[in-house]
Amino acid sequence: MGRGIFITGTDTGVGKTVVACGLAALLRESGHKVGVMKPAETGCEEKGGQLFPQDAFYLKEASGCSEPLEKICPYRLRDPLTPSMAAEREGVKIDISLLEKIYGEISSTHDITLVEGAGGLLAPILPSFTYADLARLLKLPLLVVAPNRLGIINHLLLTLEHASCRGLQVLGYVSNRLSSEPSLAADTNREALLSLTAVPCLGEIPYIEDLDAKRSSLGDAFGDGFDLRPLGAVLPRR
Ligand SMILES: Nc1ncnc2c1ncn2[C@@H]1O[C@H](COP(=O)(O)OP(=O)(O)O)[C@@H](O)[C@H]1O
Ligand SMILES: [Mg+2]
Repeated sequence: MGRGIFITGTDTGVGKTVVACGLAALLRESGHKVGVMKPAETGCEEKGGQLFPQDAFYLKEASGCSEPLEKICPYRLRDPLTPSMAAEREGVKIDISLLEKIYGEISSTHDITLVEGAGGLLAPILPSFTYADLARLLKLPLLVVAPNRLGIINHLLLTLEHASCRGLQVLGYVSNRLSSEPSLAADTNREALLSLTAVPCLGEIPYIEDLDAKRSSLGDAFGDGFDLRPLGAVLPRR
């Protein structure tokens, strides 16, 4: 298998896709051939009679990955639930060995492959198989996305603690502003976290006004706020 990073988060809706797309764009701009994968996407709406995986589409666009959407996202599910539950309700059997095979194929033909989870690290993709299990199986180090707001300290530390318990390597975390409202917590979280964890903060992503209009230039929107150095361990030397 090739090199990859598993993009997880402290919760659903915290910016995993946005951060993965920004990172894909930055890596692509720095000359890397970037692969992407969203093993299972739920809450898919129908487009042209088929369930359309919006996250996988954004990942494909940002990375320039030429693999078809059906391969980038093998399991596209309708119900806005954790993949395990959505699959069960829709009579779909998620095959982890198929995901492993596809990840192997994508990662062996790209310099670096970004794999986006669903929900947080302990969201189940099968009734008793979580995204932490999947990251471990695929031997992927983690990048954890956390919303920069009150509560991030506890949620982020719990995620990092579990990763450590499971022997998962964590490359760093990204704190992401989901709101434009002034927030004392958002201004002070990073400093508080410095004395609570040795895991590096790779970036503080600001709130991006009109984000949807800037999807194609997310790398620029992230600006200099992203530190790629801690990713050096998984990026190919050039
Ligand atoms: N930095 C940001 N600025 C503005 N909106 C953001 C930002 N990060 C995420 N969002 C918005 O928040 C929502 C959830 O982000 P998303 O990346 O889809 O989360 P996840 O992949 O963790 O479910 C989306 O509507 C997205 O456009
Ligand atoms: Mg997402």
